[in-house]
Amino acid sequence: MSVLKNKKILLGITAGIAAYKTASLVRLFIKLGADVKVIMTPASKDFITPLALSTLSKNPVNSSFYSKEDENELWNNHVELGLWADYMLIAPATANTLSKMTNGTCDNLLLATYLSAKCPVYFAPAMDLDMYIHPSTKKNLDTLQSFGHILIPATSGELASGLVGEGRMAEPEDIVSFIEKDIVSKLPLKGKKILLTAGPTYEAIDPVRFIGNHSSGKMGFAIAEAAANLGAEVFLISGPSNQQTKHSFVHRINVVSAEQMFIEAHKYFDQVDIAILAAAVADYKPKNVVNQKIKKSSATLEIQLTPTKDILASLGAVKKEQFLVGFALESNNELENAKTKLERKNLDAIVLNSLQDKGAGFATDTNKITIIDKNFNEKSFPLKFKVEVAKDIMNEIVNKLQK
Ligand code: CTP
Repeated sequence: MSVLKNKKILLGITAGIAAYKTASLVRLFIKLGADVKVIMTPASKDFITPLALSTLSKNPVNSSFYSKEDENELWNNHVELGLWADYMLIAPATANTLSKMTNGTCDNLLLATYLSAKCPVYFAPAMDLDMYIHPSTKKNLDTLQSFGHILIPATSGELASGLVGEGRMAEPEDIVSFIEKDIVSKLPLKGKKILLTAGPTYEAIDPVRFIGNHSSGKMGFAIAEAAANLGAEVFLISGPSNQQTKHSFVHRINVVSAEQMFIEAHKYFDQVDIAILAAAVADYKPKNVVNQKIKKSSATLEIQLTPTKDILASLGAVKKEQFLVGFALESNNELENAKTKLERKNLDAIVLNSLQDKGAGFATDTNKITIIDKNFNEKSFPLKFKVEVAKDIMNEIVNKLQK
């Protein structure tokens, strides 16, 4: 999955011949699942039509401060557009626009939006070779980079003038992969490894029966995706669950029983930076697993149970530098019980959900959590979808690690 999926990209097009390539650029972004809005300088419309770009981006294309719709004049709010974007890309960026960006000139909608944008700004210059190596252009490229903007360098090749040299806008495919790589390299969990347990465990009674629970694995799988989206490599040890993950940073390891989950968790624990144990592990398992299917032979059946190993506590006992996070599902004295668990299992943080809260816990799409750290600082969140809860959990962990 691309880091650009569901990201809002504002594409600013200026008046260079390379503008004709922005149709491919928009298509590539859309294919990766991004939401694209296009702003053009008035002169760039000589090189590619707004209609082509609005059709491909599925969004209106703006090029002036006002647009006419029927009899109404509408103001195109550059501040709103600037704030809407997760990333702004100016491609092609002509020498003229680069110079105006450097000086804060604001004589068209694109420049006003650029000045209003708070997001990372990428720019892909395109001009003739002598213009590209002119000291004033070089100075502008340096100044824009000193503002924190990211230069996508022009390449060498045949130029519109017929001359051959540096100044050609990078190809659309290369622009997209440049941006993807740049985003990945700056993700807060880039280079970090995470161990995650999820789902229920099934404890065998005989070859066909087991003791299990209603955990769906939704919370754990959502955390896996959220962590991977922040750049982490995730080892997801999952009990039986229908949940799916397609993220290339998530390695799924399927287990069935608590014992198998224990073995796999300890296999990976040494190499990870963070461990999050979200699985609903069975606390007890049958003392003896019967080899043959148990027959109906008497009116009652007694199965003796013995405790499973507490995976979380066992990791807490051997923990070195790892940031260890557990979950607590409580029905009464929630905060107190969660804090006791946090200390007893030697955790860095615990995620509490209370059975008293409607919509929290197992087999729902929502959850309501409080995160408690080892200094007993508490942070409570409102009821949210598990995908959002997962992001909150990962953001809290990132904040704690950065302190
Ligand atoms: N856990 C675990 N291994 C177990 C049982 C639980 O790793 N055998 C982990 C869960 O994944 C969760 C945390 O421990 O992160 C809390 O589990 P919970 O069942 O609430 O706590 P217990 O210690 O079993 O206490 P109790 O059931 O009495 O509340």
